[in-house]
Amino acid sequence: MADRPYTVLSCGMSIDGYLNDGTPKRLLLSNDPDLDRVDGERARCDAVLVGAATVRNDNPRLVVRAAWRRQERILAGRPDSPVKVTVTGRGDLEPEADFFLAGDGEKLVYCSSAALAQTRARLAAVATVVDGGQPVQMRRMAEDLHARGVRRLMVEGGGTVLTQFLTADLVDELQLVVAPLFVGDSRARRFVGDGRFPWNRDRRTTLADVRRIGDVVLLRYALSARFQLD
Ligand SMILES: NC(=O)c1ccc[n+]([C@@H]2O[C@H](COP(=O)([O-])OP(=O)(O)OC[C@H]3O[C@@H](n4cnc5c(N)ncnc54)[C@H](OP(=O)(O)O)[C@@H]3O)[C@@H](O)[C@H]2O)c1
Repeated sequence: MADRPYTVLSCGMSIDGYLNDGTPKRLLLSNDPDLDRVDGERARCDAVLVGAATVRNDNPRLVVRAAWRRQERILAGRPDSPVKVTVTGRGDLEPEADFFLAGDGEKLVYCSSAALAQTRARLAAVATVVDGGQPVQMRRMAEDLHARGVRRLMVEGGGTVLTQFLTADLVDELQLVVAPLFVGDSRARRFVGDGRFPWNRDRRTTLADVRRIGDVVLLRYALSARFQLD
């Protein structure tokens, strides 16, 4: 089996396990100190990945925010922000999205084979569109990222992508932030969907760290033998 990057899965959820509240308005689950922590995590990575629905719904910039962290990366001979990665089946992504426009770094779109030609035509000016299979296989994508030099990958959501990374056993570390609120609407997107997870009633995962950050709590789980507590 080919190598894959050390993979950190990072997200925030409500007490009742939702990533958003199902409305078009982005739900803020984090707080300022935690957003700064996530910025630090991002700055450590070679690439950050979100699903196409997150690009469409949240329009995230996905760049390192703190100027001093960008500077530190440049001094270390790295681009000021990680490579941005997304995955799509339909290729329904706007080239004007902040995902593509924010930052000068490389943008990779892993697209299903069926939509490859039309997506390349649409996004050629703003991203490299890669054939990810039909549908895109997360392991194939992770291995391809490793072949492109990505050694540390941060997967930031949404639930569809998180579920596939977890069920495919491609995650070394889970950083899960629990926000002090309930969503209470099953039409909203849950942290993960249905699936066969490697950790279950017969095989519990390892809780490596718990940290209170203002009004949220960060839970860190070790999901592989490669996990390193720092
Ligand atoms: N709380 C948090 O930390 C957090 C973080 C991130 C996102 N979110 C929330 O999560 C919501 C989105 O979650 P989501 O689960 O609906 O979507 P998602 O995981 O962001 O993206 C799903 C989309 O990715 C593409 N995709 C996923 N797996 C694929 C595969 N194997 N092959 C081809 N394409 C694939 C498809 O795109 P196409 O439809 O283009 O084919 C699919 O519709 C957002 O609204 C956002 O608010 C929350």
